[in-house]
Amino acid sequence: MLSKKMEAALNAQINAEFWSAYLYLSMSAHFAADGKPGFAHWFNTQFSEEQGHALKIFSYIIERGGSVELKPVAKVPQSWKTPLAAFEDTLKHEKEVTKMVHSLVALAKEENDYATESFLKWFVDEQVEEESTAQGYIDALTMIKDNGFGIYTLDKELRSRA
Ligand code: FEO
Repeated sequence: MLSKKMEAALNAQINAEFWSAYLYLSMSAHFAADGKPGFAHWFNTQFSEEQGHALKIFSYIIERGGSVELKPVAKVPQSWKTPLAAFEDTLKHEKEVTKMVHSLVALAKEENDYATESFLKWFVDEQVEEESTAQGYIDALTMIKDNGFGIYTLDKELRSRA
């Protein structure tokens, strides 16, 4: 059985994952309107991944006999000056999510909740990948600067994300 404190923290994480999904869907809409279908597709895929993260926690709470509480999803930004700015926001946000995941692990340890600690390992690893991916695109876009052909080429590459 989950403690009430852990249940509340996991529910807060569901909300954070849905907020992430919402953020990336907003970025997808922004780039679709901005004539960058590859960036739009990439962020749309990211949106689906974040929903998957939320649902993983949703199922885990239920599996452990806890109660899911779906809270309102707060408003997200709607536009970004450049693709670089969007990926910088992505990295900043993912770092916040990493902190939240690490706090959950710390709580699980404190409570000797070995099952939750084990469940969270997937999220710890996923955050390493998420931060590294965002940093990779920041590095590429920093090199590209405002070179139109570079942006076009990267946009084409991002279209192929499965
Ligand atoms: Fe689910 Fe991107 O953190």
